[in-house]
Amino acid sequence: MNLDSKIFVAGHRGLVGSAIERNLRARGFKNLLLRTRAELDLCSQTAVSEFFERERPEYVFIAAAKVGGIHANSTYPADFIRENLLIQTLIIDAAYRNGTKKVEMLGSSCIYPKLAPQPMKEEHLLTGTLEPTNEAYAIAKIAGIKMAQAYRAQYGFNAIALMPTNLYGPGDNFDLQNSHVLPALIRKFHDAKTSGAKSVTIWGTGTPCREFLYVDDLADAAVFLMLNYDGAEFVNVGVGHDITIRELAQMIGEVVGYRGELEFDTSRPDGAPRKLLDVSRLHALGWKAKTELREGIARTHEWYVANKT
Ligand SMILES: NC(=O)c1ccc[n+]([C@@H]2O[C@H](COP(=O)([O-])OP(=O)(O)OC[C@H]3O[C@@H](n4cnc5c(N)ncnc54)[C@H](OP(=O)(O)O)[C@@H]3O)[C@@H](O)[C@H]2O)c1
Repeated sequence: MNLDSKIFVAGHRGLVGSAIERNLRARGFKNLLLRTRAELDLCSQTAVSEFFERERPEYVFIAAAKVGGIHANSTYPADFIRENLLIQTLIIDAAYRNGTKKVEMLGSSCIYPKLAPQPMKEEHLLTGTLEPTNEAYAIAKIAGIKMAQAYRAQYGFNAIALMPTNLYGPGDNFDLQNSHVLPALIRKFHDAKTSGAKSVTIWGTGTPCREFLYVDDLADAAVFLMLNYDGAEFVNVGVGHDITIRELAQMIGEVVGYRGELEFDTSRPDGAPRKLLDVSRLHALGWKAKTELREGIARTHEWYVANKT
C-alpha cells in the first residue's frame, strides 16, 4: 500500500471506521474512498458490485457492521445475522472480482466460546458453545473469518481478519440504554458530578474483569496489519491485560473529578467473570497498544463533554 493507493474504508462514520480514516490521513494516505450509508447501502448486492466495478479500490477495510449491546443483539438477532453476513460477503466477493489487492475484515471477541480458557487464543475458535445472547452476531463474524480463509485458499485472494477486544474512544455511543460499559460509566459519573449526586450505582458486583483498547490504537493496529500481515490466521487485537469493573469505575470517577460514593447493584447480572484476549500473535508481529487506560478515558471524556447533545 503506498500513499496514492485507492483505499475504501467501509463504515467510515462509525467508531472504528472514523479512527481508521484518522490514522490513514495521519500517515499521509491521500486517496481515500468514503461513502455514507445513504450513498452506498452495503447490504445491496447491486449497489456494492456497481461501486466496486466503477471505483476498483485497491485496499479495503470492512469497518461497517450492525453492532450493539446485549439488548439489541437479543431483540434483533435476524437483523444482526443478515446485515453482517451481507456486508462482509458482498464486499469480500466484489473485492475479489474487481482486482482489489487486499481486504481486512473486523470481527469481535464474542466469536469465542462462552467458556473459552483465559486469556483467549486464536486457536480457541469453534472449540465450544457460544454465548447465546449474541450468537447470531458471532456466527456472522465467524463466517467472515472462514470466508476470508476460503477465498485465500481457493483463489489466492489476500483477505485478512482481526478480532478486537472492547473498544472505547472519541465518537463512542454514550446512550445509557445501548452503550457499552466504559462510555456508560463516563456519562454516569459526568452526570453525577454535574448534578451533585451523592452516589453512582454500578451494575453487578464490580468483580468481573474486562479488557479495553483505545480506538485509535485499534486503528493503528488495523493499518499496521494491512501493511505488514498477509496470513490466513486471524489476529486478536487487545492490550493483553484487564481490570475489574470496580477499578474501572474508580478510575473514571477520578478522571471525571467525581467525589461521591460508588454503589454496586448486585441484583444486576455480572456477565462472564473474565474476557481477556491473548495478544501474543500480534506482539510477535511487532505491534503493541500505546495508550494507557487513564489517558484514553480522559480523551474520551473530553470528547463527550465537547460533543454531548
Ligand atoms: N465498538 C466495539 O467495542 C467493538 C469491539 C470489537 C469489535 N468491533 C468491530 O468493529 C467494527 C465496527 O464497529 P463500530 O463500533 O465502529 O460500529 P459503529 O460505530 O456502529 O459503526 C458501524 C458503521 O457501519 C455503517 N453501516 C452499517 N450498516 C451499513 C450498511 N448497510 N451500509 C452502509 N454502511 C453501513 C454504519 O453507518 P450508519 O452510521 O449510517 O449507521 C456505521 O458508520 C464491527 O465489525 C465490530 O464488530 C467493535
